[in-house]
Amino acid sequence: MPVITCIDDLKTLYRRRVPRMFYDYCETGSWSEQTFRENTSDFDDLHFRQRVAVDMTNRTTASRMIGQDVAMPVALAPVGLTGMQHADGEIRAARAAERFGVPFTLSTLSICSIEDVAEYTSKPFWFQVYTLKDDDFMERLMDRARKAGCSAIVITLDLQVQGQRHKDLKNGLSAPPKLTPSSIANMATKVSWGLGMLGTKRRTFGNVVGHAKGVTDPASLSSWTAEAFDHALDWARVKELMEMWGGKVILKGIMDPEDAKRAADLGADAIVVSNHGGRQLDGALSSIRALPGIIEAVGDRVEVLFDSGIRSGQDILKALALGAKGVMIGRSWVYGLGAMGEAGVTKSLDILHKELDTTMALCGHRDINQVDRDILLVPEDFT
Ligand code: FNR
Repeated sequence: MPVITCIDDLKTLYRRRVPRMFYDYCETGSWSEQTFRENTSDFDDLHFRQRVAVDMTNRTTASRMIGQDVAMPVALAPVGLTGMQHADGEIRAARAAERFGVPFTLSTLSICSIEDVAEYTSKPFWFQVYTLKDDDFMERLMDRARKAGCSAIVITLDLQVQGQRHKDLKNGLSAPPKLTPSSIANMATKVSWGLGMLGTKRRTFGNVVGHAKGVTDPASLSSWTAEAFDHALDWARVKELMEMWGGKVILKGIMDPEDAKRAADLGADAIVVSNHGGRQLDGALSSIRALPGIIEAVGDRVEVLFDSGIRSGQDILKALALGAKGVMIGRSWVYGLGAMGEAGVTKSLDILHKELDTTMALCGHRDINQVDRDILLVPEDFT
């Protein structure tokens, strides 16, 4: 086992352990991948102010997200098909998050169902909702989340239509994977992944199979989403969905100050500044560059969360310093899961926590809730 000291090490191990089709599904952006790349590289334009001779004892990263206590202001973002990255992947990740004291978000497009995750966890998790055309299905889905005790829904607004990811089409992405000579040859080299998969009965989408109207075979992801997702989703529909749920709502995928204002007007509990990890609108601003404008527009009216591009505790601190109340991580936890299962998700949270805590201290702070823009040098053109 190689010594793992950073998120990038987990990614290297993940790449070795998981079939190419699922690694590519994760480690890909849409079209030219410009936004995917800039989501990470734009963090480098922000620099910390190093402070010295400040008492750094008794530090805390404990905080609150949508009124919930968290060990650090980090939630696991919803990620589809996680049960293909590792057997029972969603259950494993939810358990690791629960033990660590941070929220887990289950994707609509998970392999393990809402009920599966609820059975193997003891604290409420968040449920992410994609808006399908079928209204009865939406009612049933929310009802299942309610019965499972989910404490919030995350409505994803940036995937009415899907950005194209070349590799997924070329690989014929599906769950379970289609058996072709090349996929069989590749899977045969992924022994620990294959052994794990032998032990699970969950190999296709637990929340949507057999439910969405007119959809019998959701195996081919892009053609299924093109058919089932509600292309007509607008703010009136968002309001209806919020009322249908009746509890805490986080609106995810906000990249424009005008949209942030609409979300705040609707009374969302939080918004997530996110470009879906660079998987949707290629050519959009990186998420970290979009954050300051949104904080300026609505930072005093709604809790602003952030995701896309976080690979270190330093990245988390930069987003918090620009005004985010908390962040979501996507690939950073999936790398851990694919590399080492539940222990790998814990490892990724440990790494991020240590980096966050130490960097906060070196910037002269002891309490994550006191961190502000003052710790950063922000270039003038950083919008
Ligand atoms: C996602 N994301 C996502 N978002 C969502 O609302 N529902 C989903 O099912 C998925 N599925 C998904 C799959 C994979 C493989 C990835 C990488 C991402 C987006 C996710 O919630 C989050 O916005 C991004 O992952 C954040 O970017 P980073 O942290 O991965 O750079």
